[in-house]
Amino acid sequence: MDTTDKYEVLDMSLAAQGKNNLELAELNMGALLEVRKRFVKEKPLKGVKIGLALHVTKETGILVRTLIAGGADVAITGCNPLSTQNDVAAALAEEGVKVWAYKGETNEDYYRYLNNVIKFGPQITIDDGCDLVSEIHKNYPQMIKDIICGCEETTTGIIRLKAMENDKALKYPMIAVNDNKTKHLVDNFYGTGQSTIDGITRATNLLYAGKTVVVCGYGSCGRGVAQRARGLGSNVIVTECDRFRALQAAYDGFRVMPMAEAASLGHLFCSVTGNKHVISFEHMKKMKNGAIMANSGHFDIEIELSTLAEKASSVRSVRPSMEEYVLDGKKLFVLGEGRLINLAAAEGHPSEVMSTSFCGQALACEYGVKNRDSMKPEVIQLPESLDDEIAGLQLTAMGLSIDTMTPEQSRYLNSWEEGT
Ligand code: ADE
Repeated sequence: MDTTDKYEVLDMSLAAQGKNNLELAELNMGALLEVRKRFVKEKPLKGVKIGLALHVTKETGILVRTLIAGGADVAITGCNPLSTQNDVAAALAEEGVKVWAYKGETNEDYYRYLNNVIKFGPQITIDDGCDLVSEIHKNYPQMIKDIICGCEETTTGIIRLKAMENDKALKYPMIAVNDNKTKHLVDNFYGTGQSTIDGITRATNLLYAGKTVVVCGYGSCGRGVAQRARGLGSNVIVTECDRFRALQAAYDGFRVMPMAEAASLGHLFCSVTGNKHVISFEHMKKMKNGAIMANSGHFDIEIELSTLAEKASSVRSVRPSMEEYVLDGKKLFVLGEGRLINLAAAEGHPSEVMSTSFCGQALACEYGVKNRDSMKPEVIQLPESLDDEIAGLQLTAMGLSIDTMTPEQSRYLNSWEEGT
């Protein structure tokens, strides 16, 4: 480990590779670079301390550079023990960023690093999964008076924040960046769809055509995974608890059934729900020999791994990101220790995807600073105009332009008199 008082990363000699990856990421993050260009001129985050607990990837590196360009002082740690790109962490440390992260972190290091970010004294927190916010509320309540707001990146984090809000436990304003329309479309649907398949493929080299793939959950992420698996020729089954989403899956042409029935049919299972034990030990007992389980939700609780580990007659690693459990004489495989497979076994969402998500984060920080006196300690939605701005930035980055309504058309949409 390479350590100073400003960073702890695996190996500083990886910094040159990290720099190359950051350079490549920038090429595909045109929308975020536009925000950065404006931030350089306007410095909307001047003097603001921002603490991040995000996946430390090349894309997050470009967000860090954007916040710094806007005048912020930044400290960062990871938000999952397996998602850090060690080369990027080293490159950021070399650039002078306060960074504590390495791939394969122990639980102890994970929390020590979160605490380093908290001790830095952030006035804005950026979280992916709500661990930073939760740790501040539990162990550092005295710091909350100095916090302007927090920004949350993912659905799991929003679920936790809403639970805090309902319990009246949430003590500072939280901007639900995850709930931007652009985030759900580009990141949750297209990003998770592709990067989940990428992670599973890198871990297994599986042929999807002809396989029965069971996707647990049909939110934006589950829809993405189900549609990509179908595109590769799989026979896809969707399981859901939500009646509307189940209906949507059925009308999208997927087989819909309870997990108890799907368990014996699937070759590959992928949970994308944010909930616990969606693939339970009871389900595993029904699975075929050779069945593969992966999770693409934020936390490693979706697959009931603890019981599997307890009951299996043997457990061994058969290749990177793939463990074999022998249960009642059959082999079951778990990918990436049940942690989010797109980052555990691959590189997460492509840079272009994260460009739109991180425009949301950068603009949310600016929004928070501008509106610091009026925001309440609740879960806040960004105004639609900002979401629309992000869509516009991404269209421009893609070299696309669109029509503008004529004055007559605008008038028509705003009137009620004209009918048949
Ligand atoms: N979440 C999913 N993919 C990611 C990536 N490439 N960088 C940061 N966070 C992510």
